[in-house]
Amino acid sequence: MLRIEHISKTFHPGTVNEKKALDDFSLTVNDGDFVTIIGSNGAGKSTLFNSIAGNFLVDSGRILLDDENITFTPEYKRSKYIGRLFQDPLRGTAPHMTIRENLALAYLRAGKHTKMFSRVSRKDEEKFRDVLKQLDNGLEDRMDVPVGTLSGGQRQSLTLLMATIVPPKLLLLDEHTAALDPQAAEKIMSLTNQIVLENHTTCLMITHNMKSALSTGNRTLMMNQGKIIQDLNADDKKNMDVDTLMHRFKDALNDDRILLTQD
Ligand SMILES: Nc1ncnc2c1ncn2[C@@H]1O[C@H](COP(=O)(O)OP(=O)(O)OP(=O)(O)O)[C@@H](O)[C@H]1O
Ligand SMILES: [Mg+2]
Repeated sequence: MLRIEHISKTFHPGTVNEKKALDDFSLTVNDGDFVTIIGSNGAGKSTLFNSIAGNFLVDSGRILLDDENITFTPEYKRSKYIGRLFQDPLRGTAPHMTIRENLALAYLRAGKHTKMFSRVSRKDEEKFRDVLKQLDNGLEDRMDVPVGTLSGGQRQSLTLLMATIVPPKLLLLDEHTAALDPQAAEKIMSLTNQIVLENHTTCLMITHNMKSALSTGNRTLMMNQGKIIQDLNADDKKNMDVDTLMHRFKDALNDDRILLTQD
């Protein structure tokens, strides 16, 4: 279970560029929940992920994962059990290394291998072939090609496999299909659903696609100005359409503007 309690993050405090990106933000996500997150540019979505992953420390509040307080845990330690994908398919893989080497690296890093010279076994290699087969694009027969020669979609699918080859406690997807063509995006989205649902992985996914936000997962959050302004459960999602969601979003923004002018 992920528990975020009253976290705040302000960039450039005390300067003209001061920006409160997360404002007393709280959220509890149950094990196996697949939560989609929407919100306009600058709403604080990526800052939320950066806070959870430990890119920086939050100014206040606590973050707990499976009852462990990780608020001050360094990023490299959190990355062992928190998987993350970004919009840019180039992030998350090493271009000059082969598919086999990239998978091995991800596998050894996230696993319980603590010895300095841990190696992958033949059985592990078979596992790599099996997971690659899921992609249905022949990559299992191209394990020795450098990852830099793959297309964006192939590379993002590999990154997804790398992030989940040892199922993480939490998977953070930050617009991970946004840079792909529609066909590749659809493929990655169905692979995401398959992997997350099969492993019961607790997952947060940021998207700008409202339709995809509603049709994916069992909960949808809408963020604005560092806060959650809508929290839809599975039933709410079923009864919600994109137009109504858009209207709710606009209403919430208007409310905020009224609040702002009243200050
Ligand atoms: N490292 C940083 N340094 C300074 N300001 C930052 C930093 N990261 C984010 N911000 C600011 O915090 C606010 C929230 O940014 P964030 O990236 O979380 O938005 P977002 O909801 O992910 O938006 P988008 O949909 O455009 O990705 C923005 O005003 C942004 O400029
Ligand atoms: Mg962002």
